[in-house]
Amino acid sequence: MNGREIEIVVFDDEEAAAAACADRLVEGARAGLEIALTGGSTPRRAYELAASREQDWSRAGAWWGDERCVPPDDDRSNYRMAREAVLDRVSQPPRVHRIRGELDPAEAAEEYERELGETQLDLVLLGLGPDGHVASLFPGAPTLEECARRVVAAEAGREPFVPRVTLTLPVLCSGRSVLFLVTGEGKAEAARAAFVEEPSRQTPGSLVRAREGSTVAILDRAAASSLSQS
Ligand code: 6PG
Repeated sequence: MNGREIEIVVFDDEEAAAAACADRLVEGARAGLEIALTGGSTPRRAYELAASREQDWSRAGAWWGDERCVPPDDDRSNYRMAREAVLDRVSQPPRVHRIRGELDPAEAAEEYERELGETQLDLVLLGLGPDGHVASLFPGAPTLEECARRVVAAEAGREPFVPRVTLTLPVLCSGRSVLFLVTGEGKAEAARAAFVEEPSRQTPGSLVRAREGSTVAILDRAAASSLSQS
């Protein structure tokens, strides 16, 4: 698969969608993949299920698609959410490459870009905002034009309104596999714009497709409720 192709898989409810996402994470852990985790609240259950199913993540690398610029113990930190839901729950954690949200955003972005280097991300997990944003790439933002940098500082387009650090579109699209996890009725219009309609800078999720790999969107029925409306 390549280009604009996307496979949409719909589950009855949020728990089933989380379980399907957890399956992919567990496969990734066992295969020793470089995995970019996502923030927000949607993936928490998937992380917990993945941790309960596999204790040995030592061959895998954990990266983040974006971070809010807060200290790592702040309850808005994407790192903290993943730490609590998966990293602290497994006996052999992955190699952790966190974005240092406690730094100045530009400095944190430069540092993370150096850390990322030429790493090939195998699995890029993404949520989707109700406004169609992915990672910290917000509708119409100048960061959507960034082609040279792999990681940049960004302004928040939604709560929490703290500066962000985010991977750029070319890096997200370079993932061998891109996996969206989107649940809830509040995401239905965004899911339609991101997965069915033509690509648009107003819906950053519509711009992320694995260039040379597969793109899959795992949805629950509520998030999928607008997909077939004309
Ligand atoms: C962040 C994210 C962001 C998130 C969406 C969905 O730091 O906010 O990584 O892109 O995935 O906003 O968030 P929810 O799962 O909380 O709806």
